[in-house]
Amino acid sequence: MIPQTTPILEKIIPEAEDFLPLNGTDYLELYVGNAKQAAHFYKTAFGFQSLAYAGLATGLKDRESYVVQQGKIRLILTSPLRGGTEIGKHIDLHGDGVKAVALWVDDAEKSFQETVKRGATPYLEPTIERDAHGETKRSGIVAYGDTVHTFVERKNYHGTFLPGFVEWKSTFNPAPTGLKYVDHMVCNVGWGEMNKWVEFYAKIMGFAQLVSFDDKDISTDYTALMSKVMSNGNGRIKFPVNEPAEGKKKSQIEEYLDFYGGPGIQHIAVATDNIIETVTDLQNRGVEFLTVPGSYYEDLLSRVGQIDEDLKPLQELGILVDRDDEGYLLQIFTKPVEPRPTLFFEIIQRKGAKSFGKGNFKALFEAIEREQALRGTL
Ligand code: FE2
Repeated sequence: MIPQTTPILEKIIPEAEDFLPLNGTDYLELYVGNAKQAAHFYKTAFGFQSLAYAGLATGLKDRESYVVQQGKIRLILTSPLRGGTEIGKHIDLHGDGVKAVALWVDDAEKSFQETVKRGATPYLEPTIERDAHGETKRSGIVAYGDTVHTFVERKNYHGTFLPGFVEWKSTFNPAPTGLKYVDHMVCNVGWGEMNKWVEFYAKIMGFAQLVSFDDKDISTDYTALMSKVMSNGNGRIKFPVNEPAEGKKKSQIEEYLDFYGGPGIQHIAVATDNIIETVTDLQNRGVEFLTVPGSYYEDLLSRVGQIDEDLKPLQELGILVDRDDEGYLLQIFTKPVEPRPTLFFEIIQRKGAKSFGKGNFKALFEAIEREQALRGTL
């Protein structure tokens, strides 16, 4: 029998039938109150590197963007330059958060046509942008809440990032922390809306479901949620979709929805090849993580079996371990990276496991509930 945690695709999508082939995550654009300081934070605390800039100095009148990169992960941090802008309204409503999840494609026109044909709401008509380094084509569709998916075609582009951006050369270049690529991105949607968005990814984007939890799987005394994981055909893009479920007290998903003002990205999971080194480094740089009680480690090995790592550093750092029938994974979650209890990061190292740490959800939720209690929002 296959354990329930095994992430088997419900249907395998043959490559030839994949109407939306995706090469990977291209970038995440965050709308933030102060892009200049946010870029400094992601460099200093997380070890991102300066990559590109667009703003007043490049002729933009309404916004300024700083792009930072580590491994294959690129973040655009964007702030408005004056009042009354759409970006400003987004920040007022949501706080700092992810506006665009950009997906790297070979054909932005076709990606747009295929998804719109299946019912997607257009966000950006296919648009060619050019500079001395070539051209890109971008298009976009609306996803949950104010979040959008952008399709980026860059095969004819050889510049630093995108046309309109210039290389951002900085004299301040803190060392990277070993973050490699985006493993998955989780969205929180409203009460009873999980299946609607699961269907959106299935029908409009051709994704398939990996594994589902229900509220009996993921509940503590207080909080509960339901979650389904959607994956594209080649497995490079994975979007778990959460909705709140009834519990004794307020679900952490409901807390997110209250503070974000609707659905949005809850966490970005980034992969490392050495989580002990990465998390040691991140903690030394001031990144704050959720902690679990020491008791979590007492029976850890009986739960997950033999692992390569010593228990001591895992416990000291608060790293969690979970196993499925293909291997195990190590993971840890930051506290929210802005004043509102909304967006946070997950650091993950996979050693065979393709699941998402279901076995840790209870310990994790209890850690979040302790934070909620401190915030008075439980
Ligand atoms: Fe995750």
